[in-house]
Amino acid sequence: MDSPIAVIGGTGRVGRLVTRQLLALGETVRVIGRSTQRARRHMPAQAQHFTADVRDPGTLRTPLHGCAAVVYAVEPGTDAAGPDSPESTLYGGVRHVLDVLGAAAAGRHFVLVSQRHVTRRDHPMNAYGRMLDWRLAGEDAVRSSGLSYTVIRPGWLTDEPGHGVLHLEQGDVGDGYVSRAHVAEACVRAIGSPAAHGVTFEMRSEAGPASGPVPWGELFAGLRADAPTGTRAVFV
Ligand SMILES: NC(=O)c1ccc[n+]([C@@H]2O[C@H](COP(=O)([O-])OP(=O)(O)OC[C@H]3O[C@@H](n4cnc5c(N)ncnc54)[C@H](OP(=O)(O)O)[C@@H]3O)[C@@H](O)[C@H]2O)c1
Repeated sequence: MDSPIAVIGGTGRVGRLVTRQLLALGETVRVIGRSTQRARRHMPAQAQHFTADVRDPGTLRTPLHGCAAVVYAVEPGTDAAGPDSPESTLYGGVRHVLDVLGAAAAGRHFVLVSQRHVTRRDHPMNAYGRMLDWRLAGEDAVRSSGLSYTVIRPGWLTDEPGHGVLHLEQGDVGDGYVSRAHVAEACVRAIGSPAAHGVTFEMRSEAGPASGPVPWGELFAGLRADAPTGTRAVFV
C-alpha cells in the first residue's frame, strides 16, 4: 500500500506479529500504544512508534492521519469501572478511532480483533466488566460506521506456532483455541482481500500436525457477508 498501516496495540502479542508480517510485506507500519518501554522491548526498528491512548482521541489524530488501514488489537482491563474498563477500551476506544478517521476514512479498511463468545451474554467472561457486551458494542460501531471492515473473533489464544487445520466460522456457536500467529495472519490477509471485507467471523484451530500454508483465499471465499442491519450483525 502507498500509505502507512496503523496497528493499535502493535506492541501486544497479536499486534507485534501483525507488525512483523506487514513489515515483511514491505508495508510502512505505525505502532500505536501507551508504553514507550513496551515499544522499545517489542517493536522492530523499521516500525514507527506513536505514543497514544485509545481513551484519549486527541492523541490519535497524528498517528492515524493518512493511514490506509487500521488494525485494532487492544487488551482491556477486567474491572467494570476505572480507566481500563472494557467500556472505555473495547467500546469508547473504538468509537474514538472511528471518529478520528471520520469522513477521511473512505477507501480505508478497519480490522477489529474481537473475541468468540461475544454474543453470549451469559458466558462467564461477561462477569469481567461486561467485557462481552462492550466488545459487541465496539463491533456494532465498526459494522455501522460505513467503513470497509473485518471483525475477527478468535477463540482462546495460544502462543503455539500456527498448527493443525484452521477453521473460520460464523454464528458464534462453537468454542476452541487458535494461535496468535494465525490471528495475526488473518488480520494482515483481510486488509487486501475483498472477500474478507464486510464480514464477521470466528477462528478456531483443530489440533493436529502442521497442515501447510493456510488457504486464506478459499477460507475467506467461504464466508457470508454481514447483513446490512445498520447497528447489529445478522448473527447477533
Ligand atoms: N487471551 C485470549 O485468550 C483472547 C481471546 C480472544 C481475544 N482476545 C483479544 O485479542 C486482542 C489481542 O490480545 P493480545 O494477547 O495480543 O493482548 P496483549 O498482548 O495484552 O496486547 C494488548 C495491547 O493493547 C495495548 N493497549 C492496551 N490499552 C491501550 C490503550 N488504552 N490505548 C492504546 N493501546 C492500548 C497495549 O499496549 P500499551 O500497554 O503500550 O498501551 C498492547 O500493545 C485483545 O483484544 C484480547 O482481549 C484475547
